[in-house]
Amino acid sequence: MTHDPESLRERAARALLAARDRTHLLTTCVDDHDLTAQHSPLMSPLVWDLAHIGNQEEQWLLRAVGRQNALRPDIDSVYDAFEHPRAERPSLPLLPPTEAHSYVTDVRSRVLDVLDSSPLRGEPLLDSGFAFGMIAQHEQQHDETMLITHQLRRGPAALTAPEPPVTSDGILPTEVLVPGGPFTMGTSTEPWALDNERPAHRRLLPSFLIDTTPVSNGAYQDFIEDGGYDDERWWSPEGWNHIREHRLHAPLFWRREGGQWLRRRFGVTEPVPADEPVLHVSWYEADAYARWAGRRLPTEEEWEKAARHDPVTGRSRRYPWGDEDPGPMHANLGQRHLRPAAVGSYPDGQSPLGVRQLIGDVWEWTASDFLPYPGFAAFPYREYSEVFFGGPYKVLRGGSFAVDPVACRGTFRNWDLPVRRQIFSGFRTARDAGAVGA
Ligand code: AVJ
Ligand code: FE
Repeated sequence: MTHDPESLRERAARALLAARDRTHLLTTCVDDHDLTAQHSPLMSPLVWDLAHIGNQEEQWLLRAVGRQNALRPDIDSVYDAFEHPRAERPSLPLLPPTEAHSYVTDVRSRVLDVLDSSPLRGEPLLDSGFAFGMIAQHEQQHDETMLITHQLRRGPAALTAPEPPVTSDGILPTEVLVPGGPFTMGTSTEPWALDNERPAHRRLLPSFLIDTTPVSNGAYQDFIEDGGYDDERWWSPEGWNHIREHRLHAPLFWRREGGQWLRRRFGVTEPVPADEPVLHVSWYEADAYARWAGRRLPTEEEWEKAARHDPVTGRSRRYPWGDEDPGPMHANLGQRHLRPAAVGSYPDGQSPLGVRQLIGDVWEWTASDFLPYPGFAAFPYREYSEVFFGGPYKVLRGGSFAVDPVACRGTFRNWDLPVRRQIFSGFRTARDAGAVGA
């Protein structure tokens, strides 16, 4: 990425605009009743996300970067995610839909003036347009959150999108050997990388094998049909208690009818496609499947080495395919399609060792807890990452079809509770290479 201020300015403006186009679609394709309703206690009303996007933009880009007086200081507390858990947000004095739309539009027009006159250098928040990139990522993260709310919403489809392209190119090996040795994890140079991805540091890993593709619905059905949900051997103690207590026996949104698995996807019920990566599973389910398969989840380090390490140069790349920004040939990102592509898709996006679909399609649960890297420094606020470190969260990597490229990198880290499955989560498995007969 170039550091010339004019192209930075353009890049920031484009990222903000792309996020706003998506936000607009997600908040205008349903009526005001749907915008203010709570579709699940796990989620905010869509109209809360909308004004929260504007409020974060106001706080960081108008007040902090632009040094302007507050536009709506009276609403900061209503849109503070830490003050109000999601379940209680419907009862807050939220801006009604029309006001929320005009608030975010008003903030944005002032922000574009701030962007025009910012030197985009001279302090950490401005360097390389960081604050603008951070806010574009924040909006896109809420656009993924809002897409989850759309998936939980009952009633007829409000969103449609073309099917993912068919790009698989024949039979693949089921797993790939990643040779042991050091690699560089995290980044100190990616301009818009968030605090938890920093700094770059060396890690030494033994050899391991990792699945070429995410685990498919067909493979996951084999686990179900083999009695996987009724066999305590495969489950962590917490996972076993959780599925007993909530009587879980399949991924979220699945239903069995006449010997066939059906799923609900954005308002449409359809047969579960066997060749698509499994979606809407918790960490507990991913962990149990892996044990049933005689395998384990990859650690976060293993995932990142598989995704970024170039065995020829020894360098870590920005993405599996190289340093180029993601294009439609590389990965299923950006809500272009409202489902993952078949396993084995996107040969142009594979890693040097031939691992596929690391970026896009489904978030991949890893074995790892969410912890800071050595040398971590919270920036620009502790509540983005630091307050979550060492909590009950598991790391997810790679990004789903719902993630925009601006919020997706080989170094990007997501995290959630091990019970969560309304998120666009899947997984792949790994195993130790061992000394003999790997
Ligand atoms: C990184 C996806 C866990 O949605 O809670 C949005 C992103 N942080 N607003 C979340 C975020 C503040 C965060 N995750
Ligand atoms: Fe937020």
